[in-house]
Amino acid sequence: MSFPADRPRRLRRTTGLRALVAEHRLHPSDLVQPLFVREGIDEPRPIPAMPGQVQHTRESARKAAAAAAQAGVGGLMIFGVPERKHPDGRGAWDERGITQLAIGDVAAEVGDATVVIGDVNLDEYTDHGQVGLLGDDGDVDNDATLAAYARVAAAQAGAGAHVVAPSGMMDGQVAALRAGLDASGHERVTILAYAAKYDSAFYGPFRTAVESSFTGARSTHQQDPANLREALREVRLDREEGADLVMVKPAGHYLDVVRRVADTADVPVAAYQVSGEYAAIEIAARHGILQRERAIEESLVAIRRAGAQIILTYWATEVADRLRT
Ligand code: PBG
Repeated sequence: MSFPADRPRRLRRTTGLRALVAEHRLHPSDLVQPLFVREGIDEPRPIPAMPGQVQHTRESARKAAAAAAQAGVGGLMIFGVPERKHPDGRGAWDERGITQLAIGDVAAEVGDATVVIGDVNLDEYTDHGQVGLLGDDGDVDNDATLAAYARVAAAQAGAGAHVVAPSGMMDGQVAALRAGLDASGHERVTILAYAAKYDSAFYGPFRTAVESSFTGARSTHQQDPANLREALREVRLDREEGADLVMVKPAGHYLDVVRRVADTADVPVAAYQVSGEYAAIEIAARHGILQRERAIEESLVAIRRAGAQIILTYWATEVADRLRT
């Protein structure tokens, strides 16, 4: 009987050895916490499709932002949920709109130590739930929507966002934002482009969180899950238009995309672990089917291993807290 000489298990024997040889690790400042802030409510409202997440009041959002900053979380992504929606989504660029108010609150709370990010889109603000202005054919009118996005970005920057993140997958959206920001005195505001954003069923819980009436697919603008090469084209175009950071979304089912983008992009790459990824683990854990904390950390380190430097996750504050203790 011959025994192996090369024994990988020698590196796995103790907690210390395992920590010493770990190839990837999570760090609080790489994590971004999304927050939903609902106009016109007095108490935070649980989001049934996302157990553990709530629609915040302005006040509870401030507290959540402070807790995230205290835990060392790197950034906060603000999603406003307005009480009233309109066909043209006009609340999205209103200075008194809930997103702008919440960005202002949170920015005042965390200062410059934590990055405040606004999601630039119209879907939370349109009564039809589409990401932009509709053309006569019922599809989103690309170029008419660009002008609206530029206004939204300027409004968010004016409210105190350090970073704006266009998420509508309109062609030319990054260039439109850059021009709108520069023209309104926000030359120093950063653009995080949702560059490779797929038409994913895993956004389902998010749509309930923002009370969207939309039930269809976004396949005329978001990417086909079958495509990888196309993601590289989207990233290249967004870089040429002035994106400072690029993102892949969703994350967990798109690790090959994260890897390819990380290998080719010349800027930091973010990945968004979306609402459906969150809900799947939370709900399985609530049924005793998964060990919750292990599953969360495994899902996140896999995204890091694929090459994402920045990870947006609904568990950001919780995981950052654990990493510090
Ligand atoms: C657009 C936006 C969406 C998400 C982030 N920004 C919804 C969509 O594109 O339909 C999804 C995030 C998630 O599912 O967690 N405002």
